[in-house]
Amino acid sequence: MTLLTRPIVTAIASGKGGVGKTVIAANLAAWLAEQGYRVLVVDCDLGLANMDILLGITPAHTLKDVVFGDKTIHEIITPTDAGFDLIPACSGVKEMGQLIYEKVQLVKDTLEPVFSQYDQVLLDTGAGISEVVLQFNLFAQKNIIVLNREPTSLTDAYAVIKVMSQRFGRRTFAIVVNSARDEKEANRLFTHINTVCKEFLGLSVDYLGYIVHDDAVPRSIMRRSVLIHDAPDSRATKRCAAVARAVVDWDPSTCYGPAVSPGQSRSGHVAV
Ligand SMILES: Nc1ncnc2c1ncn2[C@@H]1O[C@H](COP(=O)(O)OP(=O)(O)OP(=O)(O)O)[C@@H](O)[C@H]1O
Ligand SMILES: [Mg+2]
Repeated sequence: MTLLTRPIVTAIASGKGGVGKTVIAANLAAWLAEQGYRVLVVDCDLGLANMDILLGITPAHTLKDVVFGDKTIHEIITPTDAGFDLIPACSGVKEMGQLIYEKVQLVKDTLEPVFSQYDQVLLDTGAGISEVVLQFNLFAQKNIIVLNREPTSLTDAYAVIKVMSQRFGRRTFAIVVNSARDEKEANRLFTHINTVCKEFLGLSVDYLGYIVHDDAVPRSIMRRSVLIHDAPDSRATKRCAAVARAVVDWDPSTCYGPAVSPGQSRSGHVAV
C-alpha cells in the first residue's frame, strides 16, 4: 500500500451527545491502523474527554498540560494497544471545555505540525455547536456527522450541518447512522436528513453507511477494548469495517452540492 504524503483529517461530530462518536472514532482508527495507516486520534472533547477510558489507558499528561502547563504536544502523544496514537484531553476541567477562541487556535497551531507524521488523523469532537466544537470541525477536510434513530439526534445533526454550512460555507458532510436496527431503518434515516438538507440548505449529504445496535459494543467498552478486536465476528464489527472503507474512499472534493448563498438558504425547524 502506498502511504499518503498528506494526512487526511476527519472530524467525527454529532448534534446530540451519546450517539457513538467516540466508539466510532476508536474503531475507525483501529481498523485504519490494521490496514497499515499511521493513525492519530485527537480527543477534541476538551472538557469531557473519554477516549482514554474507552481504551483503558491513563495518560500521564493531556492537552490541558499543553494549554495551561509546560508540556509540548510531542510529550503527550500516547501510543495505544489498538495500534494508533492518541492525543488525550482531560475530563471535568471547565476551563478546557470553554476555551476562548485564541486558545483553540493555539491548540490547532500546536497540533498541525504533528499531523504530518500520520496518514490519517481522526478528531473525536464533543457534541453540539459550541464554538470549540465548530472550530475543530472546521479544522478537518472530512466532516462526518453521526446520528441514531432518536428523532432528537436527527434534528440536532441537521443543526450542526446548518451552522457549518450557513456560517462557515461548508458544503460537504457525510452521515453515519449508528445503533440502527437494520439497513432499512438506517437508509430511511439517511434519506430523511438528506431530504431536509436539500430542502432547507440546498445541499446533499453523503452516506458512509450504518452500524447496527449490538450489545457487543457496550461489552467491549466494559472490557476497555476496541470492538473490532474484542468481538471481531460481531455484526457491529462488520459494519464498522464497511464504514471505515467508505470513509477512506469518500472524497469530499468530488461531492459538492448545488451552491446556495446564505441569503437564499431557508432556515427551518426540521419536522421528524
Ligand atoms: N452500535 C452500538 N450498539 C450498542 N450500543 C452502542 C452503539 N454505539 C454506541 N453505543 C453505546 O452508546 C454509548 C455512547 O457512545 P459514545 O461514548 O461513543 O457516544 P458519544 O457520541 O461519543 O458521546 P458524547 O457526545 O458524550 O461524546 C456507549 O456507552 C455505547 O455503549
Ligand atoms: Mg464522545
